[in-house]
Amino acid sequence: MASDQMYLMYDGLMLPCETHSTESLEFAREFTFKDDDVLVVTYPKSGTIWMQEILPLLLNGGDLTPVLTIPNWDRVPWLEETRMALVVDQLPSPRAFVTHFPYQLLPASFHTSKAKVINVLRNPKDVLVSSYYFHQMASFLEDPGTFEEFMEKFLDGRVLFGKWTDHVKSWKNTELGDRIMYVTYEEMVQDLPAALRRMSDFLGRNLSEEVIQKIAENCSFKTMKANNMSNFSLVPKQYMDNDRSHFLRKGITGDWKNHFSPEQLARFKSAIEKELEGESFSLPWSL
Ligand code: A3P
Repeated sequence: MASDQMYLMYDGLMLPCETHSTESLEFAREFTFKDDDVLVVTYPKSGTIWMQEILPLLLNGGDLTPVLTIPNWDRVPWLEETRMALVVDQLPSPRAFVTHFPYQLLPASFHTSKAKVINVLRNPKDVLVSSYYFHQMASFLEDPGTFEEFMEKFLDGRVLFGKWTDHVKSWKNTELGDRIMYVTYEEMVQDLPAALRRMSDFLGRNLSEEVIQKIAENCSFKTMKANNMSNFSLVPKQYMDNDRSHFLRKGITGDWKNHFSPEQLARFKSAIEKELEGESFSLPWSL
């Protein structure tokens, strides 16, 4: 299928038509945030569905009912996707959402509300690898071509939600102060209970150690991979082909080392560094 049939363009960003529409983007633009809403922000393939598992549990004190009975996309919907309008009225309070939007695309109501944001960042080399396999298994995305070709598309921003660097810059340069918390995929892999404690404190939940441990166990890669409400097995094979790759693929850090040649690493590093030249923030990992 030609890319112009697969994607719609929104503010210069490529979004898949399968999950986004003019109406869903209009809905997001007009959406009214409430003060106690929580919004998770990620560039695609940085741990979004992990947070769709974690947040309901942090917000409800570890009750597993929602993660065992509601598919992740309806449990913590994407602000910009078509399911949002269908499920938003059924969400318990406090509501939790995810978005891949850059900061400037959030609706006006977000800025006047006190809604909190958790921004999950992942090393872009692993984001690229994860995205490469995702493009192979999701029929509603363009075939990625070779790894080398896909890297060039990624660096040019000719992929879902545009350039990784633009997304990161937009969220690192906000003036949200204590309304935003940054967490890395890597720290979640390394010590999930510690990351959960940090998030719980940020959200003003005083969860016991027992509850934190229970949430960590339920949100492990292994448990999520076995949970039909979280592993995308409900999606027909014609849209996501698990014979090609899995949404919950490896769940590790550093898989880029199995994919990048020394030349590709040098090219990737210099392109990202150039994009981030002059920025006042530094990345939490070396490139
Ligand atoms: P890999 O493809 O590297 O395995 P997103 O949800 O933003 O699309 O991100 C998907 C990535 O997050 C995939 O990475 C997926 O395996 C990983 N992921 C999801 N849940 C995870 C978990 N519980 N532990 C570790 N990684 C997880």
